[in-house]
Amino acid sequence: MMNHGSRLSRRNFLNAASMTGLALLLVDCTSRPTGILAVPLQPSADSAVEIDLAAVVGEQGIFDGPKTKVWQYEGKVVRGDANMIQQISGSYLGPVIRVKTGQRVRVNFTNRVTEPSIVHWHGLHLPQEMDGHPMYAIQPGETYHYEFQVLDRAGTYWFHPHPEPLTGAQVYRGLAGLFIVSDDEESQAGLPAGAFDVPLVIQDRVFDGDNQFVYLSDGMMAPMTGALGDTILVNGRPDFMLPAAASVYRLRLLNGSNARTYKLAWDDGTPLTVIGTDGGLLESAVQRPYIMLSPGERIELWVDFSEKAVGSQLHLVSLAFSDGGMMGMMGGNSLLANGDPFPVMTVQIDQVGTGQKFTLPQKLSTILRYQEQDAANRRTFALGMGGMGGMMGGMGMGWTINGRTFEMEKVAQDEIVKRNTLELWVYDNQGNGGGMMGGMMQMLHPMHIHGLQFQVLGWEVDPNYQSAWDSVREGLITEGWKDTVMVMPGTRVKLLMKFQDFTGLFLHHCHILEHEDAGMMRNYRIDA
Ligand code: C2O
Ligand code: CU
Ligand code: CU
Repeated sequence: MMNHGSRLSRRNFLNAASMTGLALLLVDCTSRPTGILAVPLQPSADSAVEIDLAAVVGEQGIFDGPKTKVWQYEGKVVRGDANMIQQISGSYLGPVIRVKTGQRVRVNFTNRVTEPSIVHWHGLHLPQEMDGHPMYAIQPGETYHYEFQVLDRAGTYWFHPHPEPLTGAQVYRGLAGLFIVSDDEESQAGLPAGAFDVPLVIQDRVFDGDNQFVYLSDGMMAPMTGALGDTILVNGRPDFMLPAAASVYRLRLLNGSNARTYKLAWDDGTPLTVIGTDGGLLESAVQRPYIMLSPGERIELWVDFSEKAVGSQLHLVSLAFSDGGMMGMMGGNSLLANGDPFPVMTVQIDQVGTGQKFTLPQKLSTILRYQEQDAANRRTFALGMGGMGGMMGGMGMGWTINGRTFEMEKVAQDEIVKRNTLELWVYDNQGNGGGMMGGMMQMLHPMHIHGLQFQVLGWEVDPNYQSAWDSVREGLITEGWKDTVMVMPGTRVKLLMKFQDFTGLFLHHCHILEHEDAGMMRNYRIDA
């Protein structure tokens, strides 16, 4: 059951904190960001767009009977093409904002919910003040003005709240939308567009008997497993059915779940054709028997239904896998554990194809590969469970990065990087994190870095965790740009990244939102 008492006291704590200091941090960010752009883009004046975006309290009919109380974003185009904002029909999710690389975007974000909030643009390369760091959280009734230029390549980015430590609760209530960027390189690839370019957000929720969301239904376990639900929603709908023509589709999948990882596959065994990852198109498509999608990650699929008969169905499922370490030992979640199998959605072929012929392009995009030997610096971040210090963990435990939990504006010496350098970062989930119980407490952590896209060199696997690793490894993609990477228990992942254009404080954290809220988040600072 929902613990109203602790939710209330957390809220009071935040309000008190904001009166004594946080409010002083609010900046007037109507001025241009100060970063110097490596690639100056010269948009024409009319490419600037302006959007009013509000987080509001609402309700949505998800099941028959009582409507579900939700929090959701409402968007309105103030300046620019009205079609740049699309609603996801019948859903608390959204909106879908579509922009082009080089465009200048103004977003006036108004907080009309009952807790402090702030919007983070997940995956985008932005100045500190535009990135939605929790230090910029605004109070109910206040407005935060974002103004930035879209510097990223075409891709499926997204946005969600980022107040500390309320991210998990606010995303769970429904706050999340898509930020889809297109560019000229992508248009040249000639991919399916319009109704054949379909965003699909996968989430899981627990509902009570009155159709209301129940957050942290697992009580004491929740800070460890994260909020797992036993009802799978796609675009906010249960038993999701995608009506489709017998044609080629581009499906953009986002794992918008708080804590659940999916092992996605077609139930007839057809391999998945992957054309994009977090940071846009791959150089060329790759095939996988299944795809691992951990919280925060995106994947783009090329799906050819043109041989399918009208009336036929296809099912996207999540297959069984082992998430290794501790949760296996402790029996995991009582409802539907991470790694349990279940159906995700059905594609219903209900129309003949358009006749338009599509061939999967040999070359989708160009990706400049970073070279390991060019890395000017390497640093390791050990993932662990940090003793009794974490305030928010239900069992008095916090998740840690190098033994530390989140501190709003602090950065340690080993968390300072230099602009314009290439670095190799290792997330070490092999039990060297200084936790109380060492290797016994490892669990899957999807690690996310703000402000940039990185490249994945690969994972090193502790032989004791080989069988869990074998249950997921064929579903990992290292060919494209990433901002979130799945770090299985007993593994170390090596990433290459470059800090460009902007200086300032940025975050990296586990995208299991309850781990993030329990402290598994740190600043890193980019110095000139
Ligand atoms: Cu999508 Cu800091 O997160
Ligand atoms: Cu992010
Ligand atoms: Cu985690």
